[in-house]
Amino acid sequence: MVDLKGRDFLKLLDFTPEEITYMLDLAADLKDKKKKGIPVDQFRGKNVALIFEKTSTRTRCSFEVAAHDLGMGCTYLDPAGSQIGKKESIADTARVLSSMFEGIEYRGYGQEIVEELAKYSKVPVWNGLTNEFHPTQMLADFLTIREHFGYLKGIKLAYMGDARYNMGNSLMVACAKMGMHFTACTTEKYFPAPELVATCEEIAKQTGGSITLTSDAMAGTKGADVVYTDVWVSMGEPDEIWAERIAELSPYQVNSAIMKNAGEKAIFLHCLPAFHDLKTKIGAEMGKRFGITEMEVTDEVFESAQSLVFEEAENRMHTIKAVMAATLGYQQ
Ligand code: CP
Ligand code: NVA
Repeated sequence: MVDLKGRDFLKLLDFTPEEITYMLDLAADLKDKKKKGIPVDQFRGKNVALIFEKTSTRTRCSFEVAAHDLGMGCTYLDPAGSQIGKKESIADTARVLSSMFEGIEYRGYGQEIVEELAKYSKVPVWNGLTNEFHPTQMLADFLTIREHFGYLKGIKLAYMGDARYNMGNSLMVACAKMGMHFTACTTEKYFPAPELVATCEEIAKQTGGSITLTSDAMAGTKGADVVYTDVWVSMGEPDEIWAERIAELSPYQVNSAIMKNAGEKAIFLHCLPAFHDLKTKIGAEMGKRFGITEMEVTDEVFESAQSLVFEEAENRMHTIKAVMAATLGYQQ
């Protein structure tokens, strides 16, 4: 029997396939209950702290709505509005917050920060994104894939773009854990770190999954069930690298040729936010500077029937609710 009470949720490498499946099943059940209007608010009287050192729409709203649905209060600490890191160490922050809250979410920079927070916290710590990993996003993505195809094992997922950052790393780990076939489809410079690739290959050997790294966009996406991409420049990276990223990653844009190559049954996923048109400040600026109208994904693919990005975004809330519930001791 899976029991996650008291556990931190820092990266999927820390969880077994059974534990990941348990969280997906719980998320599906909580989603069903929410749709039917059945309240699940057994955590009344508890409180969670949400630390965001980087900005967010989906993750913050998911934690807030999920906490509210579960009966809990939550306190949001914004990127500028706390003492963390500037006047107070992570270890001290962990000890202060875990005396007041039943759980702590952290979004920020290095993975070592969230690991340190968890080390000194008496209550579960949940990773809401670091430079290296985005584990809550994985549960939402895999719930979406499972809802669509009915299963995970054997699914082929092709990831295009910057595969050495939080999304590429996390998808590689998650696919390996769940017996799926992960392909990083990008230039060598953007391949995930060799040590993490080796770790995932070991895991994949046990689960029947596989890891492939290729610079051939057509070979990498041929017959893929899921084509996935992310922004080319992540939060916290300097603006100066846009030019380089656009030049290097444009051959790995998800467009209709790529989706056609994957096949009619393929779906498109993106953690969002996405640059698929010029309707954002950065999108418009890049459009002006580089004469482009879209970046990592074309508007055509983004808006197509194969794109499940908004179902995926909704699933952030149901899966984050499952993570909080499971680690706080949810009783069926
Ligand atoms: N996908 C994701 O984490 O979105 P936010 O940055 O809006 O939280
Ligand atoms: N790689 C992106 C993911 C956003 C959800 C970033 O870190 O900005």
